[in-house]
Amino acid sequence: MVAKTIGILSLKGGVGKTSTSVALGSAISELGRKVLLVDGNLSAPNLGLHLNIHHPELTLHHVLRGEANIRDAITDIGGLDVLPASILNKSKTNPLKLRDKLNYIKHDYDFILIDGSPSLNEETLAVILAADELLVVTTPDLPTLEMTIKAVNIAKQRDTPIAGLIVNKVHNKRFEIPLRQIEKNSGVPVLAVIPHDINMLRALSQYKPYTEYKAYSEGSREFRKLAASLLGEKCKSFDLKGLFRFTPTLQDVNREIFYESVFQ
Ligand SMILES: Nc1ncnc2c1ncn2[C@@H]1O[C@H](COP(=O)(O)OP(=O)(O)OP(=O)(O)O)[C@@H](O)[C@H]1O
Ligand SMILES: [Mg+2]
Repeated sequence: MVAKTIGILSLKGGVGKTSTSVALGSAISELGRKVLLVDGNLSAPNLGLHLNIHHPELTLHHVLRGEANIRDAITDIGGLDVLPASILNKSKTNPLKLRDKLNYIKHDYDFILIDGSPSLNEETLAVILAADELLVVTTPDLPTLEMTIKAVNIAKQRDTPIAGLIVNKVHNKRFEIPLRQIEKNSGVPVLAVIPHDINMLRALSQYKPYTEYKAYSEGSREFRKLAASLLGEKCKSFDLKGLFRFTPTLQDVNREIFYESVFQ
């Protein structure tokens, strides 16, 4: 196997990159694929803390400085492998070595998900350069959409394909920017819509992926459908021929188009 590396990107803090990386990684792993989650947020890492990994001895920082073998810095948390970064890191590291380091373990995984940094710096660039494709996380408000458009443009300049957007923390209120407007302004299809859900916070407090903590929530179903289309499995709940049976959402149609374009 050769892993598909997906960067989870957003140039806005707190939109849900880390929560998304964990939930999507867990959903892909539930489908029987081997997944590695990487903390690419080197200056303010917290992927480990989402998964009950506190102050790991070896981290991505050691790997990037050539002080540790990448396999020695990976922790297996049961079903998911995690490569955390150091919260208390002080010495200098070069984030741009990320791609080369991940190449050593590409054959160990089906998917590598890199949780990105919200800052427009070398860390973000490293994620864009290390990824085969990107998922951009946004929320349906103007400040975030502006930063999403900026992230999309930077990724395009580096020729890293953007698979789609994950619109997170959706309240379904009229004051929110409509999905079609988000797509039109960013030029990127929406592949998943995750409602604002207090269970995300509960899951975090229990160090569990949201998809495991609240497996049958609307958001978890969206993560599972996205996971299925990423690994080329047709979403059982949706088929273009079945249009008359129920009304597909915008993201249902986009996932189908994504699936058809990549796997047919
Ligand atoms: N769909 C959601 N509904 C409610 N809360 C959410 C949702 N998604 C994420 N959150 C919460 O929002 C907060 C920020 O999430 P998270 O840490 O994943 O964002 P981030 O984009 O990774 O942040 P940073 O830019 O700091 O890395 C967390 O408390 C998380 O539990
Ligand atoms: Mg984060």
